[in-house]
This record gives sequence, structure tokens and C-alpha cells, in this order.
Amino acid sequence: MIDETRPAVFVRSIDGEGRHPVSSILPSGPGRGRIVRTVLLLLIALTAACDRTPSPPAPEDVLAARQSALRIDRELHLMALSSLENGTDARQVLTAYLTVIEGTHSLAVAGRRIEIGRTALRVRNPANAADDWERDKLEIFRFAMDGGVDPATLEISEVVDEATGQRVFRWIKPVAMEETCLTCHGDSIDPQLLDQIEELYPADEATGYFSLEMGGAYSVRIPLN
Ligand code: HEC
Repeated sequence: MIDETRPAVFVRSIDGEGRHPVSSILPSGPGRGRIVRTVLLLLIALTAACDRTPSPPAPEDVLAARQSALRIDRELHLMALSSLENGTDARQVLTAYLTVIEGTHSLAVAGRRIEIGRTALRVRNPANAADDWERDKLEIFRFAMDGGVDPATLEISEVVDEATGQRVFRWIKPVAMEETCLTCHGDSIDPQLLDQIEELYPADEATGYFSLEMGGAYSVRIPLN
């Protein structure tokens, strides 16, 4: 389960906003004009050279990402729990699962668009396939979780300049496969349920998981400009 209050182990950011505290660098006194010009030119050159200067993502974006993912995570767990308690037919569980997933992709918070997705290294729905940024982070998470790190402590957020020139806040957090997930992602799926899954997802690669293995991640994008 996701806990929005837990600190993140990995928080990195890369963007072009490397702002130096100019007033504390600029000297005062005689000859100041020339030195100021030189320092300014140096700063401009530095800023141009370091277009990947780290700058931290806004804490409110990190919080919004955590809350959005937490909401879906809670709904999925509640759904799984009530299905288990009621002994619901596995195929009905599939319908309930898809109902939770549907309509969770985009959210408007304080006038801003938050895109929420789920992704994995092996996906069921090709539309969820990881992009390069996500794949890179998923590999890190898999390595950490294989080494026994608790996924609740893992999270990465960055401000990224995309090839289109769009600056985006990105956030990603891994999820572990639990026993309830294996009904649909394990290696002994009910044959009728499997038929139904294969019909909906002919390119399904998201089976054969085991409990506690990294099952994928919640991934959030917030366009910034
Ligand atoms: C009732 C069946 C079912 C259960 C139970 C289930 N899943 Fe899924 N899972 C699916 C289906 C169907 C999809 C494809 C959804 C879509 O089209 O986006 C999916 C997709 C995913 C994805 C997105 C990547 C992909 O493969 O497309 C992740 C991550 C994921 N599941 C993790 C989990 C985890 C973790 C659990 C347990 C907490 C779980 N699932 C439980 C059926 C299930």
C-alpha cells in the first residue's frame, strides 16, 4: 500500500533552472562595474553549459502525485478485499478492477492537469508500456526490491525537459505484487479468467509474477509550462 506521509529514498531532479544566488556572488566597491559584467557573463555561460543543473521539484507537486496514486491504490485494495470477502467470481472481479482503472487517468487539481498512469517492465495493456524515463526508474526499483528494500520507501520525482520543449514534473512509485494480485498476474490463473484476459489483451505479458516481486509502478506527469 502507498503511504503519502512516508519519506522518499530517491528524490532527484534534473532541469535547466539552475539559479545561483546572484546578489551574494556580486562584489561591491571600486572596479565593481567590470567585475559585475565579468561575473554576469560567467554566470550566463555557466547557465548555458549546465542545462541539466539540478532543481528540486515543487513539494506540492510531489504531494499531489502521492495523493492521486494513493487514491487509486486504496480503491484497488478495497475492491480486492470486498471481492475476496464476498467470494466474488474472478471474472466479476476483473470487471470491478477495470471499473476502478477507468477514469483514473487524468485529474484536474487547482486548475492543473495531473496525468496518472500505471506501468511495468512487462505490461498487460500495451498502452501502459513504460517510456525511457519510466523504464530507467523501474530498473532501479526492481534492483532495490530484489535486494529487499521496502517499496513504501521508494519514490523518484524529477522536473524533466521533454524533446517537445515541454517541461514536466514526473513522479514514479513502485508497487509490489501481493497474493490478491496473483489471481490475475500469477502463474496459475483460473482458465476461464485467463481466456477473458487474453481476449481483452492479446499481447498480455503481465503473468507469471510471484508475491512481493515488483509488479510495476504508479506514474504521474504534470505539465509545467
Ligand atoms: C481482477 C484481475 C486483476 C487483479 C486482481 C490485479 N490486476 Fe493488475 N491488471 C489487470 C488488468 C486487466 C490490467 C490491464 C489494465 C489496463 O487496461 O490498463 C492490469 C494492469 C496492471 C498494471 C499496469 C501495467 C500493465 O500490465 O498494463 C499494473 C502495474 C498492475 N496491473 C499491477 C497490479 C497489482 C500490484 C495488483 C494487486 C494489488 C493487481 N495488478 C491486481 C488485472 C488485474
